[in-house]
Amino acid sequence: MNDRLKRIAGQFRLDGKVKEVVSLGEGFINDTFIVKIDKGKPEYILQRKNKRVFSPVPAMMENIQKVCLHIKAKVQLSGGDPMREAMTIIPAMDGRLYFVDESDEYWAVSLFIDDTIAYESAETPELAYAGGKGIGKFQSLVSDLKEPLTDILPGFHNIRIRYQQWDKVLNKDPLGRKASVATETGWIEDRREEMLKFWKLVEDGEIPTRVSHNDTKINNILFDKKGEVLCVIDLDTVLNSTVLNDFGDAIRYYTNTGLEDDKNLDNVSMDIGIFKAFARGYLEEASSFLTKKEIEYLAFSARYITYEQVLRFLMDYIDGDNYYKIKYEDHNLVRTRAQYKLLTSMEEQFEKMNAIIRELASSQPK
Ligand SMILES: Nc1ncnc2c1ncn2[C@@H]1O[C@H](COP(=O)(O)OP(=O)(O)OP(=O)(O)O)[C@@H](O)[C@H]1O
Ligand SMILES: [Mg+2]
Repeated sequence: MNDRLKRIAGQFRLDGKVKEVVSLGEGFINDTFIVKIDKGKPEYILQRKNKRVFSPVPAMMENIQKVCLHIKAKVQLSGGDPMREAMTIIPAMDGRLYFVDESDEYWAVSLFIDDTIAYESAETPELAYAGGKGIGKFQSLVSDLKEPLTDILPGFHNIRIRYQQWDKVLNKDPLGRKASVATETGWIEDRREEMLKFWKLVEDGEIPTRVSHNDTKINNILFDKKGEVLCVIDLDTVLNSTVLNDFGDAIRYYTNTGLEDDKNLDNVSMDIGIFKAFARGYLEEASSFLTKKEIEYLAFSARYITYEQVLRFLMDYIDGDNYYKIKYEDHNLVRTRAQYKLLTSMEEQFEKMNAIIRELASSQPK
C-alpha cells in the first residue's frame, strides 16, 4: 500500500523526492495522507477524492483552484502570507489538478500548512465565536469572486428539489413505512409553504447567490498558534449559492446540546449562548458584505437547514435507508425526531435569535 501511495504522490510536482506517506485517517468523505519529502520541508497533503460523492472531480478541482487563487491574491494585497492563509493546490506532472490512478481513483495534493491548531468540536462559546469568524472571513474573502463555479452538487439545499424527491418517495412508499410516520410527515407538510417562500427569495435573487463553503465544521478551519483564523480548508463543496446555507448549517451543528441521533430528546435543544457567540464572530467578518435582506434571514436560515435535515432523514427512512448509513433499524427515524426537536427549539427561541442578530448587526462598523 505504502509503495503505491508513494508512487501516486510522485505523480505531483513536489519540491523533492517522496520519502514517506503517512495516513491522517479516513474522513467521512476522503482519505487523507501527509507526504514527507527527502529534504524535510515542505510537507504535502495527499487526498483520495471520493468520486461517488463528487462525481466530476476535475470540475470540483477547478472550483477549488478558482477559490484558492482568488483568496491568495486578496491575502497578498492585504500584506498577509498567501502560503498560509490560503490552500495551495499542487498540480500533477501533466499540469492537471488531479491524478487518476490505475484503479480509476482520483487523487489531489495541496501544501501542508504546518504549525496550526485544529479543533474537533466547538462546545464552548469561545470556539463557536472562532468558528463564526472563520466562516465569515472565508465568505468575505470570496464575496467578490465573480467567476462562476461549476455546480457539482445540483439541488444542494434547494427545498423545491427536495420536495420533488420527497413527493416521489412518499408516493412509492417502498417498505410501507409511511402509515407509521404520519405524525412525522405532518411536521414536514406543516412547514412546506414557509420554506418555499424563503427559497423563492433565493430563486428571485432577492437573497443573492455568492460563494458558499458548505462544510462549516470547525475542523475545516485552521487556526494559528495564537488562536487566530488562518484559513478554511476542505473546499470540495464550494458552490454558488446563498451564504445563508453556511450560517444555517453551522448553527444546526454548533448549537445542538444533544446528538444528531439522540434517543433522549430531553438532551436536544438549541444553545442560545452558542448561537450568539457564533453569530458574533460571523457578523464581525461578514457584515461588511451582507445585504440587509441576508441579515434579516440569518436566524431563519438555521430553521431552514435544520428542517431540510429532518426531511432528509425521514425521507430516507421511508425510502428504506438508502442514503444515510444506519447502525440499527429505526436509526433514521431516531435522527428525524432528534433533528425535529432541535428545529422546535429554534422555533421557540426564534424571536430571541432575531433580536441577537439585529443587535450584533447594528453594532458592527459600517
Ligand atoms: N492543507 C492542509 N494543511 C494542513 N492540514 C490539512 C490540510 N488539508 C487537510 N488537513 C487536515 O486533514 C484533515 C482532513 O482534511 P479534509 O477536511 O480536507 O478531509 P475530509 O475527508 O473532508 O475530512 P472530513 O470528512 O473529516 O471533513 C483536516 O481536518 C486537517 O486536519
Ligand atoms: Mg474536513
